[in-house]
Amino acid sequence: MTGDILKVLIDEETLHQKVAQLGKQISEDYKDKKLLMVSVLKGSVVFMADLMRTIDIPARIDFMSVSSYGSGVKTSGVVKILKDLDHPIEGYDLLIVEDILDSGMTLSYLREVLGSRGPNSMRLITLLDKPERRQVDIVPDYCGFVIPDEFVVGYGLDYDEEYRNLPYVGILDPSACRDA
Ligand code: IMP
Ligand code: MG
Repeated sequence: MTGDILKVLIDEETLHQKVAQLGKQISEDYKDKKLLMVSVLKGSVVFMADLMRTIDIPARIDFMSVSSYGSGVKTSGVVKILKDLDHPIEGYDLLIVEDILDSGMTLSYLREVLGSRGPNSMRLITLLDKPERRQVDIVPDYCGFVIPDEFVVGYGLDYDEEYRNLPYVGILDPSACRDA
């Protein structure tokens, strides 16, 4: 499995240091707020699990799962809610937790859907950002690492549901990809 990784882009130690920094910042920014962290399944679970343990103020968590409608969807930005939040978000200070911000289509849809449910505030944190790929105007409020336009896996991120369990973020060898 690790033979499919061309290069380790962000190692474990670097990830953990950055996550701790982000957690500290969020703990300060949300100390007088009602923090609700919403993880977008499945890619962000590893980041979420590490991040929440570095936050030392009261916080709630919830999960949401979305999928694109077919292959043309990346450009249409239409996503389907596979699993919705368990609880209403009215009055909460929402922090959407994502693994990677790419075209921005998914997040821009989520922001619209969740924003209409009356949260007190809504911000976005992403572990990774590929700004070169952006198709919609969306800037994360908190970001771990800006990365080049390469396909990465590990630390929750997958290729065809594999590699999520790698403890680092690595660039996938294109020859390990089964299709284009
Ligand atoms: P977008 O911002 O709507 O284009 O989609 C972001 C989603 O695409 C992420 O949540 C990932 O699931 C997936 N994605 C984008 N780039 C990568 C990558 O380099 N590796 C793994 N998944 C990626
Ligand atoms: Mg994802």
